[in-house]
Amino acid sequence: MNAPELTEDERLGLYLRNTETGTEWWRVSVADRPQTFRLEHGIEDAEAQASVDIDLVVDAENLRAKLKKWHREGFVFEARGASSATDAQQRAAFMPALQRAAAARRAAGHVGHAGPLQARTGASATNGAANEPRSVRIGEVDVPCGAPGPLVPRVNPAYLFSARFNDIVEDIVENRRVMLIGHTGAGKTSLIEQVAARAQHGVVRSNMNGQTTVGDFVGFWTVKGGETLWVDGVLPTAMREGLWLIVDEIDFAEPSILAALTAVLEPHGRLTLKEKGNEVVEPHPAFRLFATANAVGAMSQFRHLYQGANLMNEAFLDRWRVYLLDYLSPAEETDVLMRTLAPHMTQTLAATLAAIAADCRAAFAREDLSSAFSTRRLLDWAELMLRTGDPERAAGPAIYAKVSPEDATLIRGIIRHHIAPAG
Ligand SMILES: Nc1ncnc2c1ncn2[C@@H]1O[C@H](COP(=O)(O)OP(=O)(O)OP(=O)(O)O)[C@@H](O)[C@H]1O
Ligand SMILES: [Mg+2]
Repeated sequence: MNAPELTEDERLGLYLRNTETGTEWWRVSVADRPQTFRLEHGIEDAEAQASVDIDLVVDAENLRAKLKKWHREGFVFEARGASSATDAQQRAAFMPALQRAAAARRAAGHVGHAGPLQARTGASATNGAANEPRSVRIGEVDVPCGAPGPLVPRVNPAYLFSARFNDIVEDIVENRRVMLIGHTGAGKTSLIEQVAARAQHGVVRSNMNGQTTVGDFVGFWTVKGGETLWVDGVLPTAMREGLWLIVDEIDFAEPSILAALTAVLEPHGRLTLKEKGNEVVEPHPAFRLFATANAVGAMSQFRHLYQGANLMNEAFLDRWRVYLLDYLSPAEETDVLMRTLAPHMTQTLAATLAAIAADCRAAFAREDLSSAFSTRRLLDWAELMLRTGDPERAAGPAIYAKVSPEDATLIRGIIRHHIAPAG
């Protein structure tokens, strides 16, 4: 006797029910012989491990009985179909596979596709004995050194490299284009400068919020002593000399400057000086390009605070690694206050000041305050307070005079909440 065909309700695929230990499933598929069906059973646990514990072949009649039983037991047909168990296996397999791949990459000592950061040519960046370029450890990353020079920033001994910065430092070594976004005074510029200071690379900065023209940036022709001369702008200068270029406030840059930059955003990107007969500028291996911005990408919600900032298009942003730099945590800021203003800034004083800054930032996030409270402002206030011995007097020029009267009132309230008047 031929078994009847399956009806619409008796579909091939996955039947699921949730149990306390995970998702229990039956998978129905066509078996090798005609009019027979393969039934597989398993439980997908919290780690999404799905292994088959029952595997049998039944005829259509038998299947129909099973389907009725499953229905009574609360199994429902899963629209994802027969591939669902495989999806679960794939889902569970991803993280172990990624961890193996990342460990293998670490073991191979991988440096980025653009090659390692190299010492500047002609500089004495070797340790004398071996011809290996020297390197300096910053956080968990070895950064190859350049050479001393007038453009190398001064080391700030009080600077704190938070563990959060490791990825950024690694990107610098790998020659990625790094854009740092965050509120004013969060530490965007100083992070790059302090990496450069320790690894002795020269830094040039170009601020886009103001007078920077495409001529300043790319270069221009001028007449000197009757002769027509080409003057390189900051971009080709940095590229030729292996300097680190920070394009500050890139969200204010004019389109012609962004167009010049786009070519250089590729790891080996070369600059074509159209105005100079299409001369091609090759990047020195030590050249690095950075940008900072207050109001792009994840910071766009704060655009109203940074008047005149342009939205950057996605294709442009996609050419960068964009890091959102938040303010330091209260514990980190306490540490920075003590290191910067040692020996007079004590733990008691610093912890209170850091807590005040954190409260002001929370008020800003709630939009109760309209001005951000930067680390720069906090350090300045603390320094002045040590001189005057009077937090309120010090807050005048360091804080109150820079904000609206309403903001000043609110900040004064926060300060009083943390500091009782002298007895
Ligand atoms: N990790 C840190 N350790 C020590 N000091 C820090 C740190 N981060 C920031 N600062 C202090 O905060 C000041 C402001 O930082 P920085 O100028 O880098 O901010 P920024 O994000 O570039 O601000 P803006 O958007 O206004 O340019 C620095 O001069 C430095 O004194
Ligand atoms: Mg800056």
